[in-house]
Amino acid sequence: MTILVAPSLLAADFGKLREAVKLVEENGADWIHFDIMDGHFVPAITMGPAVVQSLRPHSRLFFDVHLMVANPEAHLEAFAAAGADLITVHAEATAHLDRVLRRIKALGVKAGVALNPATSPAVLDYVWPLLDLVLVMSVNPGAGGQPFIPEVLPKISFLAQQIRERALSTVIEVDGGINAETASQVVQAGATVLVAGTAVFTGEDGLKLIQAFKLLKGPTRPI
Ligand code: DX5
Ligand code: ZN
Repeated sequence: MTILVAPSLLAADFGKLREAVKLVEENGADWIHFDIMDGHFVPAITMGPAVVQSLRPHSRLFFDVHLMVANPEAHLEAFAAAGADLITVHAEATAHLDRVLRRIKALGVKAGVALNPATSPAVLDYVWPLLDLVLVMSVNPGAGGQPFIPEVLPKISFLAQQIRERALSTVIEVDGGINAETASQVVQAGATVLVAGTAVFTGEDGLKLIQAFKLLKGPTRPI
């Protein structure tokens, strides 16, 4: 199973985002992870569709937009028009998850659901066929640089088993506290897309982690 790496711009210098994208692209990144925060679903405010739009012409990478926003329904068209390849909404942020996922897909964009650490994967039971991706939060959303929450590891394994049993092509992405130590743990549990902000953009050998993550091997036994 190929491991994909999605550096999060949250940890980059916001005054030099174009350079940050170029740097991680040159170092083997597969996706760019945009952490969109609205000050309501989470306390912080970060960036909006204009940032995605401004970077779109400068990168061929897959743009992975993580909406940590209340009422995500109101923002889907704007991010799709800005050039998002994938839009992930939080299961906790909408009462109409099925409708939101169908609208994302109708826009021609891949659809994902993010689960906070305390959220059960049971919320996905009736939307699995709509899911291109499940984003397992391994920190509580709202900031980068937080410690990894190991209690989410069984959730990753459970999701991987669900995907296998349902013969789906849904991928599992993990976001938060991913570094040299935790990356192998989540890949062994069944994750194939790794978000990393702090480890990539602030660690002295951060950029080298991208290639190291891509060499990680998935579970040796069937999940
Ligand atoms: C949390 C954010 C972070 C960010 C990466 O709201 O989603 O998880 O992507 O965080 P670090 O810096 O831990 O890689
Ligand atoms: Zn994120």
